[in-house]
Amino acid sequence: MTAAEVQSGTIDELARTVSTEEKQALIREVGTAFDSLFTWDYGKGRREALNKLYEKAKVSQWNAETDIDWSVGGQIDCARDPANPLNVMGQTDEGPFAKLTAEQRATLGHASMAWTLSQFMHGEQGALLCTAKIVDAVPWIDAKYYAATQVMDEARHVEVYAKYLREKLEWEFPVNVHLRDLLDTVLADPRWDFTYLGMQIMVEGLALAAFGFQYQFSPDPLLKQITRYVMSDEARHVAFGVISLKEAYQDLTAAEVRERQEFCYEAAIRMRDRFLSQEVWEALGMPVKECCEVMLHNPVQLEFRRVLFSKIVPNLKKLGLLDAGDGWLRQRFGELGVLEFENWEDTGAEYERLQVEAPLPASQAG
Ligand SMILES: [Fe+2]
Ligand SMILES: [Fe+2]
Repeated sequence: MTAAEVQSGTIDELARTVSTEEKQALIREVGTAFDSLFTWDYGKGRREALNKLYEKAKVSQWNAETDIDWSVGGQIDCARDPANPLNVMGQTDEGPFAKLTAEQRATLGHASMAWTLSQFMHGEQGALLCTAKIVDAVPWIDAKYYAATQVMDEARHVEVYAKYLREKLEWEFPVNVHLRDLLDTVLADPRWDFTYLGMQIMVEGLALAAFGFQYQFSPDPLLKQITRYVMSDEARHVAFGVISLKEAYQDLTAAEVRERQEFCYEAAIRMRDRFLSQEVWEALGMPVKECCEVMLHNPVQLEFRRVLFSKIVPNLKKLGLLDAGDGWLRQRFGELGVLEFENWEDTGAEYERLQVEAPLPASQAG
């Protein structure tokens, strides 16, 4: 079986977008039921690695309004430019793409940038809600302290992407169904370790790789600056997941391990398959299913979706989930073609290198 053959659903399921009714609704309710835990053990620093992370977070707060220079970059023309290295979706002539004019390809560039950042924004809101839940549900004081700083980080991330989309790109997309369903699942699960696993390890691990890509290739100095700040925070968030779960997963039974492996695999293919830009085709009046088919098999897109696992795989290995039991997850990830990342540095070790302290030196900002 090849990576392209492993799919989270049929093409009809993959091409699904949110309904008109859902697009018009301002609020989405997700039922959750979990225990809120008090701890009477206020001994700060019992978990040294978490305490260190918390102290780092305190000095790494930045202000989306004042530490970012909003006057530089952020032009729609940059998103429309065919020479923009992030503008890869319009560079195919397969199927429905064959007849696109230069003007339509430029619009596609603008749409795809707005779509990517819209999904980041929705994912950031998911992170905000999940982390607020961790503050409540985790039993350790050092983890509650750290998670509280992450709640503030995520508020800032939602704020910064919302501002960029509204004021600069002037285009916002609704949440992708596959991303939304995953966020719902992670939020609704009553077990706090599943919140960490779904958000800090899977969603944020993937986001960290995607941000790295964007930071490296975006020609827009404003987006580069925003991304560098967000990445610095995200690296801590993923490290928070790795450090916390490393301890929590020491005494799991075989059945508990397998349940978590299956959850990670499900989440992995659902996240990978959201990168078909379903909502872009819909907004541009292109045939959604045919365009998804092209994206599903396009070599550039396949490679991009594979690289998104570069942070997830080493982190799952560090947690012991890649190899635990009969190696079920290793086998599955082998089919997805992502095992080459297994020996990359895990984020528990890497995050310090990615830290920046506000305000960002100009040399790193643009
Ligand atoms: Fe975030
Ligand atoms: Fe985050």
